[in-house]
Amino acid sequence: MTDDLSVAVIRARRPEDLPACVEILAEVHRRDAYPVVWPQDPAGWLDQPTAIGSWVAADRTGRVLGHASLSPDASDPARIWAAHTGDDASRAATVSRLFTSPSARGLHLGERLLTETVTAALERGLHPVLGVLDQHAGALGFYQRAGWLRLETVDFRLSDGSIVPMHCFTHPPRQT
Ligand SMILES: CC(C)(COP(=O)(O)OP(=O)(O)OC[C@H]1O[C@@H](n2cnc3c(N)ncnc32)[C@H](O)[C@@H]1OP(=O)(O)O)[C@@H](O)C(=O)NCCC(=O)NCCS
Repeated sequence: MTDDLSVAVIRARRPEDLPACVEILAEVHRRDAYPVVWPQDPAGWLDQPTAIGSWVAADRTGRVLGHASLSPDASDPARIWAAHTGDDASRAATVSRLFTSPSARGLHLGERLLTETVTAALERGLHPVLGVLDQHAGALGFYQRAGWLRLETVDFRLSDGSIVPMHCFTHPPRQT
């Protein structure tokens, strides 16, 4: 399935994209243990009611290949960023639910989805932050490659009650 992927687009997610997003998420869960605990309502997990926006990568036939969201929630990374900068946590926006189809990796779709969320945050005067679980080594490498900076590691409670380390990242300040 490598045809046409060079012309994949990043666009706002539509309600009818959700089943395809859930299908890819199930593959990502099996392969990468993301999310670690499979949600009872995966479509609801992706469709966060407070999200500022959600985007998909799609090939020219419309097939969905990846997903990302941006949320204004008072997450741990937002709180840690606020503590480090003296800014208010409400001025941070959290990148979340970012994944690409295992069959479309290494094609810069993850990078393009990340850029889309960062742009959406900056356009609203919000500072992008995110959290990555320690066990998601691939994602850690990906964000570090993109220049994100790790601020702190905190304990994160999964939905099954277990506690795991989560690294809190901040988007680097814009070069002026
Ligand atoms: C992390 C993820 C989104 C990356 O998606 P992708 O589409 O394969 O990444 P891209 O092709 O956009 O990669 C962009 C750059 O990051 C690099 N990169 C990608 N994965 C990497 C990794 N595991 N380690 C180091 N660098 C990596 C690429 O080599 C590329 O660099 P280059 O420009 O020098 O070639 C994907 O691996 C994924 O869905 N992982 C599982 C879900 C997950 O853990 N999500 C994060 C939750 S916080």
